[in-house]
Amino acid sequence: MAKAKTRFVCQQCGQPSPKWTGRCVACNTWGSMVEEVEVPAPAGGAAFGAIAASKPQRLVEVAGADVARRPTGFSEFDRVLGGGVVPGVLALVGGDPGIGKSTLLLQAADRIAGLGATVLYVTGEESPRQTRMRADRIGARSENLWLLAETALERVEQQVDALKPQLLVIDSVQTLHTTELSTGPGSVGQLRAVTARLMALAKGREIATFLVGHVTKDGAIAGPRVLEHMVDAVLYFEGQRGHPFRLLRAVKNRFGSTDEIGAFEMKGAGLEEVTNPSALFLAERAAGASGSVVVASFEGTRPLLVEVQALVSPTSHGNPRRTAIGVDSGRVALLLAVLEKKTGLDIGASDVFVNAAGGMRLDEPAADLAVVAALASSHLDRVVDAQTILFGEVGLGGEVRAVTGAVARVAEARQLGFTRVILPAGNREGLEAPESVTLVPVSRVEQALEALF
Ligand code: TYD
Ligand code: MG
Repeated sequence: MAKAKTRFVCQQCGQPSPKWTGRCVACNTWGSMVEEVEVPAPAGGAAFGAIAASKPQRLVEVAGADVARRPTGFSEFDRVLGGGVVPGVLALVGGDPGIGKSTLLLQAADRIAGLGATVLYVTGEESPRQTRMRADRIGARSENLWLLAETALERVEQQVDALKPQLLVIDSVQTLHTTELSTGPGSVGQLRAVTARLMALAKGREIATFLVGHVTKDGAIAGPRVLEHMVDAVLYFEGQRGHPFRLLRAVKNRFGSTDEIGAFEMKGAGLEEVTNPSALFLAERAAGASGSVVVASFEGTRPLLVEVQALVSPTSHGNPRRTAIGVDSGRVALLLAVLEKKTGLDIGASDVFVNAAGGMRLDEPAADLAVVAALASSHLDRVVDAQTILFGEVGLGGEVRAVTGAVARVAEARQLGFTRVILPAGNREGLEAPESVTLVPVSRVEQALEALF
């Protein structure tokens, strides 16, 4: 095959150049030149080589909704994928080093292989021996699971040709490189070229492909998010260092919803599914301590009980510190201001720390009321009753607003033995209280605090 011609293109303004330059000659941006393969315009108009030129089809006649999804053997993984692996899907699994991406994918690969599919696991980071050691640890022993230690894309393609797997795992995409480009593995140009070729492979032969991607310091999958646009699904595997809990979260999914999470626990013999994440998140709860409150939150279609902790303490010197983990810090600042203005609590000169326990991330406004309660509880040094749970959005006027999913939130609270739910008055209507639970509707922040302390 003749070597493809390459050129460098500025990622800011699109200026092409035959040679690499540190700075774009057109827009003067530093470090924006990325090598790309020059693709000659195809004769006959078949753009995107992988998909052959086709004729229009009646939409109703296109095969679609009834695709057979392949279970991964992990119902939590299936849930995040939207009900299993779609043939030909190209999914990127990102996460910090050491979080367990390789473990998750090797376990899933083994289970899928155990169900009869041929699976090829390509490792570019670890030796076959290392992978075998991990496999022993997690008890992976399917006969249909194949391992290839390779970093050259062209050779991976050859082996895929020969083996014809239904599932391909690339661990990691940053270690693969194509000889088409002169830049080294891991560069933006390489990442893009490799991913485009793998996309063609996945679509052309209906091979479900999982790419492991490393995350940079600022949280994006390395290679300025270029990969995220190209793939069908982007999953993040998250967790806190020192905690065994792991969450698999879809941030993009062309074949399912993006709000689903899957919960896992890292054990001595690999990852285990957590079918009742609420119980897990509350297991180490600081019940009986001030500043700790439980919120009935929502993740995707599933209610989740999470402990919110706050610590308000006098500032020892200089400006008060404001730190929020797992909760948006802008949101915390807003809630602090509302709390001060509406209840007269004087928190302004104190250090404030807010934390969603267990490495959870609370993105939804329904957590507002719990954050307010945790702040007040810590500041007043008054304990919130351990059997009480809260949810509700807080507005700038101190009003408590209704949120979605109230029935499921209350049901989850009941299931875990909570006896009192403080909720927005707007949600109380039409809500049937379970026998063991007292519902306390509130329409203002002050009312909620009164009910609590
Ligand atoms: P790994 O899958 O290698 O992470 P990544 O591919 O995201 O870099 O996971 C490595 C960590 O997981 C390592 O610290 C050891 C731990 N681990 C377990 O606790 N139990 C196990 O069964 C395995 C295989 C790993
Ligand atoms: Mg790994």
